[in-house]
Amino acid sequence: PAPSADELKRQAAAVALEAVAPGMRLGLGTGSTAAHFVDLLGAKVKAGLDVLCVPTSERTRAQAAALGVPLATLDEAPELDLTVDGADEFDAKMRLIKGGGGALLREKIVAAASKRFIVITDESKRVETLGAFPLPVEIDPFGAKATRLHVERVTRDLGLIGTVGPRLKPGGHVFVTDGGHLILDCAFGAISDPDALADRLSAIPGVVEHGLFIGLATAVVVAGRDGVVTLGR
Ligand code: A5P
Repeated sequence: PAPSADELKRQAAAVALEAVAPGMRLGLGTGSTAAHFVDLLGAKVKAGLDVLCVPTSERTRAQAAALGVPLATLDEAPELDLTVDGADEFDAKMRLIKGGGGALLREKIVAAASKRFIVITDESKRVETLGAFPLPVEIDPFGAKATRLHVERVTRDLGLIGTVGPRLKPGGHVFVTDGGHLILDCAFGAISDPDALADRLSAIPGVVEHGLFIGLATAVVVAGRDGVVTLGR
């Protein structure tokens, strides 16, 4: 039978695990694919692998701690050898949309502190043009409405028309990130110039970070029905 989406995620995680060497300092991503990596890493640690890991979310911290994976804060280990994380979308230039799980700020800080950043995905995440997945933009709660209007103005200027709305939890309460911020999910459809959008969003006061990860991934491991393919290295 064809592998399930979950089996594909685990296959990608297993390929990324091959890049881990003893003594490394690792960043641990967030999401269902990254959870497979943490799980496989935990088994290696149990078997004697020596690594020190910085989690990108409280969720990943709890998972890794339960598996006995040695943990540090990014302040304790500010220079990492490798980060392994999932993504919501990637394109041929290894540009990503991340933040579906709401951990994009810590994910980006940790990825930027790493020499290598391996993204693990299944083929459903590959797109010609980014934007089918709504872009998460993390904002400070102060003046959230003003910041939302600013995001709408700037994106309209770039020809991006769609809905920009605060992420809610099931039940209707507003979603709050590990860092105490809010998320605007921006559903524009195709983003023709992600680099320009990234620059414009970063320049808005109140925008803490956005989910466009550009120039960060050094490799994307893609598990598909015909096997695992790696872009980059
Ligand atoms: C978390 O904030 C995201 O950036 C995740 O990396 C992304 O949502 C991928 O999650 P899955 O592996 O569950 O698809």
